[in-house]
Amino acid sequence: MKFFLDTADLDEIAEAASWGALAGVTTNPTLYARVGGSLADFNAHIKRICDIVGPACPVSAESLAMTRDELVADGRELAAIAPNVVVKIPTMVEGLAATRTLADEGIRVNMTLCFTVPQAMLAARAGARYISPFVGRFDDISEDGIAHVANIVNAIGNYDFTDNTVGGEQIEIIAASIRSADHVTQCALMGSDIATVPFGVLKKIVSHPLTDRGIESFIKDWEKVK
Ligand code: E4P
Repeated sequence: MKFFLDTADLDEIAEAASWGALAGVTTNPTLYARVGGSLADFNAHIKRICDIVGPACPVSAESLAMTRDELVADGRELAAIAPNVVVKIPTMVEGLAATRTLADEGIRVNMTLCFTVPQAMLAARAGARYISPFVGRFDDISEDGIAHVANIVNAIGNYDFTDNTVGGEQIEIIAASIRSADHVTQCALMGSDIATVPFGVLKKIVSHPLTDRGIESFIKDWEKVK
């Protein structure tokens, strides 16, 4: 499973990228608002993220246009920022139509706010390169988010969509709305291709008390050897 960082915070992105295990970044309007972003600076901010992570890391930038023509126009503009920009589009009728057009033009789309297997199947058929089912928001309404996302991972894994994706690339599922270390564990066990995690969760999952205790005791014993 690959790790994406779910944030628009440049310091968090730079820090996580320096760890050597980051494979991409996802942003959304809420995350951008959280860092005090403005509409006028949005494209420049996405460019800054692309520059930090480098060309091998996909960076999702979201359009909230509500018509297919506006989504396509936004998508073209966002994709022109850098070659690794992925256009993030909500799963809805206009979004599917725009995804088809953008995919046919060679522009990668991340279909987001995906909650069901049928939504994911439609996104895949419309040419989405990434599909983002949300874990935590199901948990928020007292449903089992992990079970829902596992269903989507299994259903998409049943088929080959490479005949209608950009460059014939495999679709990858991005498990989103990750809130805990256990969510990350469950996503890896179910075979999700990617988990996009907030920086706070990433910091938590890198350590374990037994790792800390082990390092401490090894250092102590090494002192005896020296
Ligand atoms: C992912 O692409 C979404 O932006 C994000 O994971 C949503 O997470 P939340 O439900 O914690 O806001």
